[in-house]
Amino acid sequence: MNRQRMQIKITKEEIESRISQIASQLNEKYKEEELYLIGTLKGSVFFLCELAKMLTMPVILDFVQISSYGDGKVSSGKVDKKLDISCDLEKQNVLIVEDIIDTGRTIQYLKKYIGEKNPKRLEICTLLDKPARREIQNIVADYIGFVIEGDEFVVGYGLDYAQKYRNLPYIATI
Ligand code: IMP
Ligand code: MG
Repeated sequence: MNRQRMQIKITKEEIESRISQIASQLNEKYKEEELYLIGTLKGSVFFLCELAKMLTMPVILDFVQISSYGDGKVSSGKVDKKLDISCDLEKQNVLIVEDIIDTGRTIQYLKKYIGEKNPKRLEICTLLDKPARREIQNIVADYIGFVIEGDEFVVGYGLDYAQKYRNLPYIATI
């Protein structure tokens, strides 16, 4: 698949402008308080970096690698932790930064896992949300970049198809 055959769905400019709106909300909410951003590898990296640069409070970065997907487009259903966080999150403000919430399994797992570390506050921020695909009920992010209608599979800005296309500066459908 080459870039020419992809259909751009959300442009780089639209993504960056939306991220700056989310950053403003967070800057207002957390002001001078420290904020721990927990990124989910690998998909959230581009979003997390862009967001982090726009935040004005003291920010600490950490990462976790979870996978609920195989190499294709269909969820394998189970969640697997491949890399753990290294920070102590007790009594801290924590924001989980995700690329996309699809079935909701990854976020359900992470909310419980991070919640057990006793953070002061735990919120969820996702670049994309695909509510039509949700299998776990009551999974709602506090900050959502864009909603993808239906079950369209998207790539770019961190999101992959079989590990490729993460570096596209826009969101596209294939
Ligand atoms: P969930 O656990 O089903 O919510 O899955 C979340 C993960 O599935 C994301 O972090 C992505 O890695 C992957 N995923 C879901 N939908 C898409 C998509 O449209 N494109 C690329 N990856 C996706
Ligand atoms: Mg992922």
